[in-house]
Amino acid sequence: ARHLLGIEPLHPVEITTILDLADKYVDLNRQPNKHGDALRGLTQINMFFENSTRTQASFELAGKRLGADVMNMAMQASSIKKGETLIDTALTLNAMHPDLLVVRHPHSGAVDLLAQKVNCAVLNAGDGKHEHPTQALLDALTIRRAKGRLHRLNIAICGDISHSRVARSNLILLGKMENRVRLVGPPTLMPSGIGEFGVEVYEDMAEGLKDVDVVMMLRLQRERMDGGFIPSEREYYHRYGLDAEKLAHAKPDAIVMHPGPMNRGVEIDGDIADDINRSVIQEQVEMGVAVRMAAMDLLARNLRAPKDEGVYV
Ligand code: CP
Repeated sequence: ARHLLGIEPLHPVEITTILDLADKYVDLNRQPNKHGDALRGLTQINMFFENSTRTQASFELAGKRLGADVMNMAMQASSIKKGETLIDTALTLNAMHPDLLVVRHPHSGAVDLLAQKVNCAVLNAGDGKHEHPTQALLDALTIRRAKGRLHRLNIAICGDISHSRVARSNLILLGKMENRVRLVGPPTLMPSGIGEFGVEVYEDMAEGLKDVDVVMMLRLQRERMDGGFIPSEREYYHRYGLDAEKLAHAKPDAIVMHPGPMNRGVEIDGDIADDINRSVIQEQVEMGVAVRMAAMDLLARNLRAPKDEGVYV
């Protein structure tokens, strides 16, 4: 592929290729000297039109560790504020010959649109409610390392499913790898018609978490709720916040995940989030750097390969 826009177009073999290379980058990142040269001579531009801590920092570190020249556009200080469109901004940067463009945007589909207008490889760092492919890949790597496999696992994704690009990308990836995925949350935060996609839907945490291997919690994404139903935090924590009592329904060795940013006392109890025997939240962050290194390395190999001879399709 020329771009990484979503999990939807990826074949399971491509997912495995990215994760296998990311495993190698985990080892590199744990060395005192963390430098590789897979992106040497290439220019990476990060354009974040929405707030980010993990994704922005890890894409920047990933590029720098592999030798790219990395530029972070301060979108708040850009000419977007003077009325320049997303596409004109992208075309302007494209004229400076970047090789990799990393884009986060609040509108679903904006990154796909932008990718059609530029010559470089585009990586989707999260677009609206649509996809967050590198998040799903880092989650997959975390699960594979913790559980020793990435198939035939029972995985519960819990909370605000309807506003979540993380849930969507994970649902697609985990399904492609033949896991059994359950969605758990209030009906008001569940996409309509989701049951038709062969996924099990639960309203009750005790039932939804029964005997699962992985519990993935999600934040209430108020910024995308458009003035619709917003639950009270107290009521939500009581019914859907992950605490020791609710986690006891999962398998005794079930892992707890959260993509961050995390709201303690809303969707997750702080003690559970910090429990090093159950929570892999910090491992997820670590895997994020390695997965982004692997994704950019593979796209760069494709940039350099003769036409139609990409490393992954
Ligand atoms: N998980 C995630 O995308 O976090 P950030 O919004 O901090 O990048």
